[in-house]
Amino acid sequence: MTVKSICCIGAGYVGGPTCAVIAYKCHDIKVTIVDLNQARIDAWNSDKLPIYEPGLEEIVMERRGKNLFFSTDVDQGIQDADLIFVSVNTPTKKSGMGAGMAADLAYIEAATRRIAQVSKTPKIVVEKSTVPCRTAQSMRTILEANSTGNIRFDILSNPEFLAEGTAIKDLLNPDRVLIGALQTPEGIKAQNALVGVYTHWVPRDRCITTNLWSSELSKLAANAMLAQRISSVNALSAICEATGADVDEVAYACGRDTRLGSKFLKASVGFGGSCFQKDILNLVWLSTQLNLPEVAAYWKQVVDMNEHQKHRFVQRIISTLFNTITNKKIAVLGFAFKKDTGDTRESAAITLIKSFIQEHARVAVYDPKVEPEQIMMDLTEPGVVDNRKQVEQHVQICSSAMEAAQGADALIICTEWDEFKDTELDYSKIYESMNKPAFLFDGRLMLDAPKLRNMGFKVQVIGKTELAGTA
Ligand code: UDX
Ligand code: UDX
Ligand code: ADP
Repeated sequence: MTVKSICCIGAGYVGGPTCAVIAYKCHDIKVTIVDLNQARIDAWNSDKLPIYEPGLEEIVMERRGKNLFFSTDVDQGIQDADLIFVSVNTPTKKSGMGAGMAADLAYIEAATRRIAQVSKTPKIVVEKSTVPCRTAQSMRTILEANSTGNIRFDILSNPEFLAEGTAIKDLLNPDRVLIGALQTPEGIKAQNALVGVYTHWVPRDRCITTNLWSSELSKLAANAMLAQRISSVNALSAICEATGADVDEVAYACGRDTRLGSKFLKASVGFGGSCFQKDILNLVWLSTQLNLPEVAAYWKQVVDMNEHQKHRFVQRIISTLFNTITNKKIAVLGFAFKKDTGDTRESAAITLIKSFIQEHARVAVYDPKVEPEQIMMDLTEPGVVDNRKQVEQHVQICSSAMEAAQGADALIICTEWDEFKDTELDYSKIYESMNKPAFLFDGRLMLDAPKLRNMGFKVQVIGKTELAGTA
């Protein structure tokens, strides 16, 4: 079977870029991305796309209106398609069983029910959102129980491995594409149909085909292992700060072992993003439910270490600023969870700034891509009376690093945006405008600390001590 028409339910960070690239690479396939959120669809149809990704705009502008469409007509999208990606949000549950850990599958379920209700022809239904293991089984049950008439549905798992900030690059040249299917003749036929879409541009040997459950678990496992490396290096950064070892040197020395490899060993203020924490907690919840408490505790520690890393950084800032930051001005550079994205989900900056507010500091934030309202929303506890007012009193959102630094006691690098490099930003001018002593905390190990110390800054870097190498 050859896929001619694709519908993607969910025009978010995953569905949008993924299907834009499919349209870009497969001119013979009509791709329609549908979403219930009118504002989001309007933005996809406008000059200012709802998400920022390097290279995304060019691809959307080239294919939009040709074989790439954005619409709120979910039912029509479903009916026209022979393959449907389900790419809706799967947030961590806030209440009930598994609260704080399990994924909330309400959106997946709603989308699946809709597919069952409106489909008039056979469909291949592909789970694209990261989901707990065995979600495909639930989708199958819903589809079979709710379909009108005798329509055939085949379910595939095709988890997305793109990273934000490099989504288009990752999609154009993926390390691998993973497609899981039931190992029945029909399942394998559906699997081959989706392989046929990707081989428009991805070499066949990079398309991995597995059973459904392996595919679902692999996505959780890959994210858990990536996050585990960061928590490992961050745990080492604490030892470095206490001993005089330098975490960059340690990471480099370890990474040169080809069995370890050099990637994902950058110590930081803590990992963020919509996936790592959520997926590990999914794995923890799955292990708990499978009555494997030791396995659950093992993975949970990766998240706990990440929390500890953020807490440790705050502690270091406060103790360096003579044990109080009350009424001091703290300039935070970067609010997104990493560079080259406007996404703030689980960003370490949120935890840090909330702690600064608790300590009654004045916070000035600058991020090149995050909208001011998003920052205010992330810092506000929904439903807590007067909380918004308190946040507004303490937080000033700035339109440049220079403005944020004006009169500040400390400058904190939270996100590694290129424009914060010491070769880009005029740190001597920043130094002049700050209160003295002017403290600088590098949470991303991106600055030349000796050079900045020569300018007069008191510099502290994660995983390093000022005296390193001299003791
Ligand atoms: C190890 C380090 O590899 C080496 O760099 C260091 O200098 C000494 O310690 P060694 O203990 O000799 O070397 O063997 P290694 O190949 O690392 O295996 C250690 C254990 O891990 C073995 O029991 C091996 O069976 C097991 N192992 C290794 C696994 O179970 N799975 C793997 O994927 C790799
Ligand atoms: C991640 C996975 O990389 C991707 O494969 C999956 O599909 C979704 O989750 P993403 O969250 O977009 O992607 O970004 P990633 O580059 O993995 O970074 C996640 C967080 O880890 C960021 O906060 C980043 O700053 C941090 N990080 C990453 C480190 O602190 N150190 C590192 O060495 C690498
Ligand atoms: P991700 O990062 O996984 O892509 P997002 O939250 O960015 O997640 O995007 C998910 C999108 O899915 C949202 O825009 C949301 O409006 C949309 N969505 C959720 N449920 C449905 C549904 N039943 N039908 C259509 N769109 C949906």
